[in-house]
Amino acid sequence: MMKRFHLACLGVLLTLPGFACADSSIEYSTSRGGRLYDKWFKEADRPSPKAANPAYPDTGKYKGKKASDWRCKECHGWDYKGRDGIYAKGKHFTGVAGVLGSDAADHMQRILRDANHGYGEAMLDEHDARDLANFLRHGVIDMAPYIDSTSGDPVDADAARGQVYYETVCANCHGLDGKAEDTAPPLGKVARSNPWEVLHKIVNGQPGAEMPSMRAFDMQVSLDLVKYLRTLPAE
Ligand code: HEC
Ligand code: HEC
Repeated sequence: MMKRFHLACLGVLLTLPGFACADSSIEYSTSRGGRLYDKWFKEADRPSPKAANPAYPDTGKYKGKKASDWRCKECHGWDYKGRDGIYAKGKHFTGVAGVLGSDAADHMQRILRDANHGYGEAMLDEHDARDLANFLRHGVIDMAPYIDSTSGDPVDADAARGQVYYETVCANCHGLDGKAEDTAPPLGKVARSNPWEVLHKIVNGQPGAEMPSMRAFDMQVSLDLVKYLRTLPAE
């Protein structure tokens, strides 16, 4: 078990005397950091930024578009490799480097406030910076050994096992066919077009939603799930 911390508990302890607050795990913080990386304003329940992100390149296709240009993933990618990964070309191209292998986690607060970022306290606070730092330390992984970069297929994954996980963990919300959440496109569609995004969301959870994070389980479980999702209907 990794080092534990109890900052998140402090508020509860102060307001509820006698309440024994259990320490939360590094994994909890890492997953929350992953959801902030995905869409921090949903996860942290903050107003979505109205103005375009001045740090986002003017040539990018998502400038000022539904606050997408403020999402970490929009510049650094679902595979954390920025211009060297799946965002090397296409409509999400920005030319920004990845965060894979960055040793900047200890300076997360400073990075969030620097000229490349410009997130104020009201957008991302100290607590969010801590979770993003843990995500950078423990959650940012190289997906290349897990997902084939050409076909997008998970390597060494078993769709039949994935089906059992899916039908017992996910189907209550998403339906057996992956089409039940009517605001989201069918899971079969996004799993085919962007397995990196789907792997990120399965491991970390969906920002602001009740969806679980599968981080505590072996990576193989998430890979089997991605493999099975790619067999579900795309329409
Ligand atoms: C508008 C594009 C953009 C967004 C959105 C963005 N970044 Fe960055 N980030 C950059 C640029 C530019 C750099 C510097 C690297 C480069 O020049 O490509 C950088 C660098 C970094 C680095 C490495 C810093 C270092 O000194 O090694 C980290 C870590 C980082 N960003 C984290 C984040 C996090 C966390 C978020 C979301 C809260 C985020 N970024 C959102 C553009 C962005
Ligand atoms: C408690 C309900 C719940 C459970 C259980 C759940 N999800 Fe979700 N999931 C959601 C919600 C809500 C969304 C967001 C839908 C939206 O944005 O409209 C979502 C979004 C997603 C997305 C992103 C879809 C997209 O296009 O953005 C994926 C992929 C996904 N879920 C996969 C899974 C998998 C795989 C499991 C099982 C390991 C699972 N979910 C379990 C509620 C759930």
